[in-house]
Amino acid sequence: MNVHQHLVDPLDLVSPDGARVDQRVFCDTDLYERELDTVFRRCWLLLGHESQLPEPGSFVRTSMGEDPVLLTRDRDGRLHAHLNICRHRGTELCRVDRGSATTFECSYHGWIYRNDGRLVGVPGRKTLYYDELDTSDWGLAPVAELDTYKGLIFATFDPDAPPLVDYLGNAAWYLDIILDRRAGGTELLGVQKWRIPTNWKVVSENHCGDEYHVGFAHRSNFAELADPAHSVPMAREIRPEVGHGFGVFLFPEGTRLEHTVGPESPPALRAYLGEIHDEVVERLGPERARMGLVHGCVFPNFGLVPVFNSLRICQPRGVGEVEMWSFALVDRDAPAEVKRVLRATALKTFGPAGSFEQDDGGNWSDVTRMSRSARRHRVPLNLTMGLGHEAAAPGDRGEIGLTASDINQRGFYRRWRDEVTR
Ligand code: FES
Ligand SMILES: [Fe+2]
Repeated sequence: MNVHQHLVDPLDLVSPDGARVDQRVFCDTDLYERELDTVFRRCWLLLGHESQLPEPGSFVRTSMGEDPVLLTRDRDGRLHAHLNICRHRGTELCRVDRGSATTFECSYHGWIYRNDGRLVGVPGRKTLYYDELDTSDWGLAPVAELDTYKGLIFATFDPDAPPLVDYLGNAAWYLDIILDRRAGGTELLGVQKWRIPTNWKVVSENHCGDEYHVGFAHRSNFAELADPAHSVPMAREIRPEVGHGFGVFLFPEGTRLEHTVGPESPPALRAYLGEIHDEVVERLGPERARMGLVHGCVFPNFGLVPVFNSLRICQPRGVGEVEMWSFALVDRDAPAEVKRVLRATALKTFGPAGSFEQDDGGNWSDVTRMSRSARRHRVPLNLTMGLGHEAAAPGDRGEIGLTASDINQRGFYRRWRDEVTR
């Protein structure tokens, strides 16, 4: 019997237009292994931010899919990313999340690696290995490509991957709304990490396009935050590239930045936004200066909720579990009080105990749990909202849906289908 006979074919699980998705995509373990070897091996993945590695010697322990990765800055200031796995017998080399080190000594037999990945120390190299071990062959395994975009650090294991700017495509223009509004750039505060019993795609499809759930899943939150007499405004879904997606508020022409936050916002924040308004308009231009990025996802697992200053990486940890890594994204040159306010907002809404995060996490784990039900083979899910009603985005930067739409989720699953089958 062919052992592969039982494998599900991704082409049968997602319709070509992405509008019908079989629930098995959330629970099939073979498919998950395939994702690790396709999506998470070939795509550009977010590793972190340059502000996490402020000086030579800085390091961050991160991951790409389920692969442990050590991100380092060498003595010349260059960034490196290697598998965080000792080449001798394969234990985890660095077990500290973040710090500063010139070299890393393995806890098992003491091999020592420099922070550029080279193997520089082997106990007993002369006496036990008879001086025959060529250490240049046994450095840490590097990623294929590493690059940065306005402070964000990305890498891929695929030597044939397109350049990062091409991978981001039109998404970069929208990301600039949060990454490039000030000359000093941004910094990441955090991290908080926690586990959710859900498949990673449930999270990413929400981040990239789910404006629809906001008024329902988060109703009680908005009842607290806003006047219940006013319905929650809906962002417009923008699909800059198939796979990436953002929700964007377009404020009326001429809106000043300090008026894009509610009157209940802390005075320090409103004053800060008033001060930087001209700089932001100058840098981004009037069109983008009045765009508020609400939510987003860069395929496959870089999530954003900029409206609450939250940046997250949804790390897959098995078919039915993710580890959320959550940061606050702030302007580097903002005053300390403003950074504190922005960070507190991110924590209260989308931190591990964040009120919005609880709403979402409950639904996400339910979707994954339900996918294991006996009926899953016969019941496709519906992603048809706005199908056929997409239009070209202004400036031809992708496509837009009209207010809430599944345009981005369809793009996400179309991209997923392509990635796991090519
Ligand atoms: S496993 Fe690292 S030195 Fe042996
Ligand atoms: Fe949500």
